[in-house]
Amino acid sequence: MTAAPWLVLGAGALGQLFAARLAAADDIGPIALRGRHGLLNQLRLQETDGSWRSLALASPEAPPALVIVATKAPDAEQALQQAQLAPGTPLLLLQNGFSVQPRLSAQWPGPVLCAATTEAAYRQPPPAIGVVHAAAGHTWLGDLAGQHRTMAAAVAATLTRAGLAASACDDIDEKLWHKLAVNAVINPLTARHRVLNGTLAEPPLSAEVAALCAEIAQLMAAAKVSPPAAGWQGWVSAVIEATAGNRSSMLQDVLAGRGTERDAILQPLLALADTHALAVPRLRACYHATPA
Ligand code: PAF
Repeated sequence: MTAAPWLVLGAGALGQLFAARLAAADDIGPIALRGRHGLLNQLRLQETDGSWRSLALASPEAPPALVIVATKAPDAEQALQQAQLAPGTPLLLLQNGFSVQPRLSAQWPGPVLCAATTEAAYRQPPPAIGVVHAAAGHTWLGDLAGQHRTMAAAVAATLTRAGLAASACDDIDEKLWHKLAVNAVINPLTARHRVLNGTLAEPPLSAEVAALCAEIAQLMAAAKVSPPAAGWQGWVSAVIEATAGNRSSMLQDVLAGRGTERDAILQPLLALADTHALAVPRLRACYHATPA
């Protein structure tokens, strides 16, 4: 009997990377990838050493054992509706921000794992088809209620076997807030000023980074989210340095004329500011200056 497939929803850079890495592994079973225009049957992947490989993808004949939701945050729920999954199908959410995760964790009638990943990938510019694995990172997995530790560990082990280093964790909400802080600073600034991430380490934008980090630190303290080991600004600066040559996902969206993840990334911070009656003028200005 063929193993139940894993289905990846969303053929953006991360969706293609996860589908390609899983399809390239020997013993993982069929992997299907559904993009905006339906199922893809093949994919090209450039490895971190620069070599290319072509991979065959499956057409799922059985209901998926796991669905990796790799769409942009605003598209996740619609993609799930269109996929017409059996109730109870387990999900793994890869979205940026902190909006889809709490919503689906409360509403989806099955296990919902959330992931915070530092894998870096970008799509080949059209007409080429394929994904470039720009830098290997790490993916943390867990569910917000802490009820699916065993499933998170099993999924993490499979991803690791496929070359996507992953671990299950008990504090995925904290990891998601840490990732959100990075995205809330880097993505809107790089998109607005149309610069690579590394430009944020230099004046005048470095001052804007510091001001946003200070507001985020205040919000996170009010929400009792523990800071990263390096502190909020140290953490954001380290990611800016590590991804200096990257075009952020939001800048890529703006340049391609697509909608952005502004609401998924900045709204949860503005909601915290309202809850705790804190003034966050820089974050609010950033929100209004960023295309939706
Ligand atoms: O969204 C992105 O582009 C990435 O999460 C990050 C870490 C900001 C690097 O570009």
